[in-house]
Parts: sequence; structure tokens; C-alpha cells
Amino acid sequence: MPESGPSRRKDRPRPTGDTLAVLKVLAHAGADHTPILITSRELGERIGVSQQAADRYLVALEKRGLLTRSMAARRQRLLLTAEGRALLRAEYQTYRRLFEGPARVSFSGTVTSGLGEGRYYLSQPGYVVQFTERLGYTPYPGTLNVRVGAPALRKADLVASWAGGLRIDGFEASGRTFGGATCFPSRLNGHPCHLIHPDRSHYRDVVEFIARDCLREALQLKDGDPVAADIEEP
Ligand code: CDP
Repeated sequence: MPESGPSRRKDRPRPTGDTLAVLKVLAHAGADHTPILITSRELGERIGVSQQAADRYLVALEKRGLLTRSMAARRQRLLLTAEGRALLRAEYQTYRRLFEGPARVSFSGTVTSGLGEGRYYLSQPGYVVQFTERLGYTPYPGTLNVRVGAPALRKADLVASWAGGLRIDGFEASGRTFGGATCFPSRLNGHPCHLIHPDRSHYRDVVEFIARDCLREALQLKDGDPVAADIEEP
């Protein structure tokens, strides 16, 4: 798939300072969750540029899918998109990491079975090669599914937004598309493994883990058993 430049990856956009500065001002004005009404002149005053420059920023942000824009009388109605919010959150995470050090997240859940898809995916050579190279081991073919409640799911989503995860790129093979994922070094009941966050996940109450060995065997786990996950920010 063509990409627009070496530093622009669809999943991890690299914002310029200007982009972030404008997004930040808009978010402070409330546009991260509710549409705000503002003129380009007002925006320009807030970010210290001319009305024309402010307008150009807004057009560029809209083009990049970071902002939705519509006209309302003399003003513009502006709302950040999920991608725009994600960009700001990622920036926040880098500062939080810088000033507070690596975050730690712990949650618990119960072991559960899926549809056996993990084994299929983890056996794809396109994934195996990347896992082996990037994680430093060839994972046992499958993912251990841990069913969690909403608070743990929020924590897992937070982990997914950390910057230092190990990227596994998507690819195409045998006429189908395999999605990318990000892995985070973790411990499950103290045993080393990786939390794997697929770019496109279909489960909303399950967190998946991969490991060098079969975690069910290593930890003597069966469906319904409680497990504790600990993840330190890379
Ligand atoms: O779809 P489901 O998660 O049930 O299965 P899978 O991902 O195809 O994995 C095959 C089996 O190995 C499942 O019982 C997983 O829970 C288990 N597994 C494990 O114990 N340790 C791993 N590192 C990976 C998978």
C-alpha cells in the first residue's frame, strides 16, 4: 500500500508542532467532545497567527481527518475526530512518560476460550517471522484470552495507547489481508508474556496474550480460572 512519506504511518501519524498546537487550543475550547463555534479570526488570535493562517490550519486538519468542520452562520463548527483525540492523547502520554516515568497497569480477569482463530493467525509465516524478530521468541501458536470487566478494559485500552509497543505490521497473503497489532511486555500470574492488541479487534471484553510457551500448561489454567496481568510501560 502506498504511503505518503517515511514518517507517516496510517496507524501512528507523526504530527507537526503546528498541528498539535492547533488541536490543543481546540481541545481546550471543548472541541474534543462537543462541537464549538468559532471564527478563524478568533482562532488565529488564540494561536497567535493571522486569520488566513488559522483557516489554512483548519483546512489541513480536516483534510487529514483530525477535525470535522461545517459552517454555522459566520462561524465554523469544529469537532475533533477520534483520530484527532488519539493524536493529542499520544502526545500527552509522551510527556507523562517523560515527567512521571513508566506507568504500570494491573488488572485481573478470567481465562476463556475463543474460536480457535489465534492458532490460525499465529501460524501465518507473515506473523511468525515478525514475532520472532521483534519479540525475540517464536510464540506458541495461539492467544490466551482473558475475559475482563469494563475497568480492566479501560486499562487495556490505555496500554494500547502507550508509545513504546512492539509493532507487528499487517500484510497480505493468499489473497487476504492480515491486520497489524502492537505487543506490550507483560506478566500473567508472574509469567513473562506479551499483551497483544490487534489494530482491529472484534472482542470488546477480552484481552489477548501471547507467550513463548503454552500459558495454560505453564500456569495450570483452565477456562474460568482467575489470572492477574501486570504490564509496565516499555
Ligand atoms: O481461540 P482460542 O483463544 O480459544 O484459541 P487459540 O488462540 O487458537 O489458542 C489455542 C489454545 O492455546 C487456547 O486454548 C489458548 O487459550 C491456548 N494458549 C495458551 O495456553 N498459551 C498461549 N501462549 C497461547 C494460547
